[in-house]
Amino acid sequence: MTGRVEIFEVGPRDGLQNETAEISVAGKVRLIDCLSGAGFRRIEVASFVSPKWVPQMASSGAVLAAITRAPGVSYAALTPNMKGLEAAIAARADEVAIFGSASEGFSKANINATIAESLERFAPVAEAARAANLPVRGYVSCVVECPYDGPVAPEAVARVVAALRDMGVYEVSLGDTIGRGRPEAVDAMLGAVRNEMPADALAGHFHDTAGRALDNIEVALGHGLRVFDAAVGGLGGCPYAPGAAGNVATEAVHDWLIALGFETGLDRAVLDAAARIARDLRAGKDADG
Ligand code: HMG
Ligand code: MG
Repeated sequence: MTGRVEIFEVGPRDGLQNETAEISVAGKVRLIDCLSGAGFRRIEVASFVSPKWVPQMASSGAVLAAITRAPGVSYAALTPNMKGLEAAIAARADEVAIFGSASEGFSKANINATIAESLERFAPVAEAARAANLPVRGYVSCVVECPYDGPVAPEAVARVVAALRDMGVYEVSLGDTIGRGRPEAVDAMLGAVRNEMPADALAGHFHDTAGRALDNIEVALGHGLRVFDAAVGGLGGCPYAPGAAGNVATEAVHDWLIALGFETGLDRAVLDAAARIARDLRAGKDADG
C-alpha cells in the first residue's frame, strides 16, 4: 500500500486529560510547541468541558492563548455544548469537535446524556460553529465495545455516524475507547459505517489497551481510511472509561505506516522529542524538566 496517511495528534488533549496531577500551562505549551514542528496538519490541544468533570482540561483557554501557532496547523478543541463552543471561539480554536457515543452506558457516564439527548445538544453547536466558520469534527466513542454495555452493534455506530453527518461534520473519528476491539469486530463495524459515510471522511481512533491498535489500523486502511488519531508517547485514556489505556503511540503508528509503504510527512526526531516531553509531564517533571 502506498500514499499519504495523516496522523491527527491528540496527545495534548486525549493524552493528558486523564492525568490526575495538575500539569502546568507551561508544560502543556512546551509539548504543543514541540509537536507544532513535527509536520502535523491538526493537533487537538484543548477541551472546553466542565472543569468538575475533567479538571485537567480547565486550563484549555490559557493553553490556546500561550502556544506559538505554526502556520498551516489547525489547533482543535472538544466542545460538548454551546458553553464549550463559546469558550472555544473566545480562545480562537481553529476547529472544534462534538463527541457522542454508540452505546448508551458510555454516553450517560461521559456526557450525562442519552444518545438522543446528546445529538439534540450537538445540533445547535454544529450550526453555530459553521456560522462562525469553524470546521466541526465528530467523534463516536465505543464503536466496538463499551465498558458499561459490552459489545456494540455495528448498526448502532452507523446510526450515530449518520446523525453527525447530517449535522455537517467534515469527518467522523471512530473511537475504540477502551482499546479492546478485535480486528474482526472493527472490520464489521467499518462495513456498516461506510454505508453512511465515505472512507475519506472517516478517521480511526484506537486506544491500545489490548495491544491490537496497529492490527485495527491495518484493517481500517483496508477499508480506505487514511486518517488515524494517536498520542505521542502513547499517553492517555478517558476518565469515564475505566481500565482503558492510552491512545496508540504516534511514534508506533508512524513507524508501522512507513513499514507498510505509506508516507506521513512527520519528522521522527521531533516525535521522539515530543514523546520525551510527554513522559516528563506524566512523571510530574513539568515545564523545563
Ligand atoms: P452536566 O453536569 O450534565 O452539565 O454535564 P450541566 O449543563 O448541568 O452543567 C453543570 C455545570 O457544568 C454547570 O456549572 C455548568 O456551567 C458547567 P455549575 O453551575 O454547577 O457551576 N458546564 C461547563 N463548564 C465549562 N465548560 C462547559 C460546560 N458545560 C457545563 N462546556 C457536560 C454535561 C457535557 C458538561 C459534562 O458531562 C462534561 O463536561 N463531560 C465531558 C467529559 C469528557 O470530557 N470526557 C473526555 C472526552 S471524550 C473522550 O475522551 C473520548 C474520545 O477521545 C474518543 C474515544 O476515545 O472514544 C473523544
Ligand atoms: Mg480517546
